[in-house]
Amino acid sequence: EPSAEQRRFDEIIAADSRIEPRDWMPDAYRRALIRQIGQHAHSEIIGMQPEGNWITRAPSLKRKAILMAKVQDEAGHGLYLYSAAQTLGITRDEMTMQLIEGKAKYSSIFNYPTPTWADMGAIGWLVDGAAICNQVPLCRASYGPYGRAMIRICKEESFHQRQGFEILLALMQGSDAQREMAQDAVNRWYWPSLMMFGPPDGDSPNSAQSMAWNIKRFSNDELRQRFIGMLVPQAEALGIALPDPELHFDEKTQQYVGGEIDWTEFFEVLGGNGPMNVERLRARREAHEDGAWVREAAAEYARKKATRNSK
Ligand code: 3HC
Repeated sequence: EPSAEQRRFDEIIAADSRIEPRDWMPDAYRRALIRQIGQHAHSEIIGMQPEGNWITRAPSLKRKAILMAKVQDEAGHGLYLYSAAQTLGITRDEMTMQLIEGKAKYSSIFNYPTPTWADMGAIGWLVDGAAICNQVPLCRASYGPYGRAMIRICKEESFHQRQGFEILLALMQGSDAQREMAQDAVNRWYWPSLMMFGPPDGDSPNSAQSMAWNIKRFSNDELRQRFIGMLVPQAEALGIALPDPELHFDEKTQQYVGGEIDWTEFFEVLGGNGPMNVERLRARREAHEDGAWVREAAAEYARKKATRNSK
């Protein structure tokens, strides 16, 4: 017989309403949210590295200013999401240590190198484009702090996607070498951006429960389809080929059918063997250690202030 709290929780979910931090919630719901929101926050913070790599080498002051704004936005997204996760009872330190010790996942997409400037365009267009497809439905997640964080993040994400598209458009309207650079970047980022949506629905252990709790609103494959549908006309407008010769629209099923995604690569990356994982975690650990004195000073200042106020 479900407890009164469980019944209340079930009613709120069935009414597609919101669960707030002070509401009773099943431990499994709490754990699922800490898992997803924590990993989402880690993704935003690690995601600052591939782009940060080009801030000092942007081709113009305008591009540098836009890229700096985007990387700062990612830091802010990480802050909102860590704060949302903290309302569930986990601390920022615990989450940071889990990431640094390789115990927590972050999005596979940030395991890839950014060798040319065109990667900044491919990341904005593909990675932030995929993130928008995934994050818009999350604005309606049943857990209040997560949904509300998403609303603010999605507003900034659309600027990220547009500036990526515009970088690629500028390159495609440039020299042959610039056009080749843009096509090469899309060739390297297209398949990993499809993997951002997670494994195929049949291999997604969390989806069913996540959808039952109104956290995940659409399945991994549904959002992947939506993303490809968004990309095809934009790739045509750019004059860039999507690197999947089998990609076509099936009139009967009204679905995009593409070549097989390399799930071996995906699970290799998830296992921590992605090309840049060691570097990403090293940089994050170094930033954490370099920032220790700031945290200590802030804590000491807060202690002194509290002591002064209590006199
Ligand atoms: N990278 C890393 N891990 C992934 C992954 C990916 N691309 N896709 C799936 N996984 C992991 C899942 O976390 C899960 O592992 P876990 O149980 O240990 O957490 C496992 O693979 C099985 O996947 P499921 O489909 O069962 O897991 P979910 O139901 O959690 O679905 C998800 C995966 C769609 C990524 C979902 O977690 C989600 O929507 N997360 C929030 C969005 C997010 O994290 N986006 C990161 C993109 S980058 C970003 O947003 C920054 C932007 O500024 C570019």
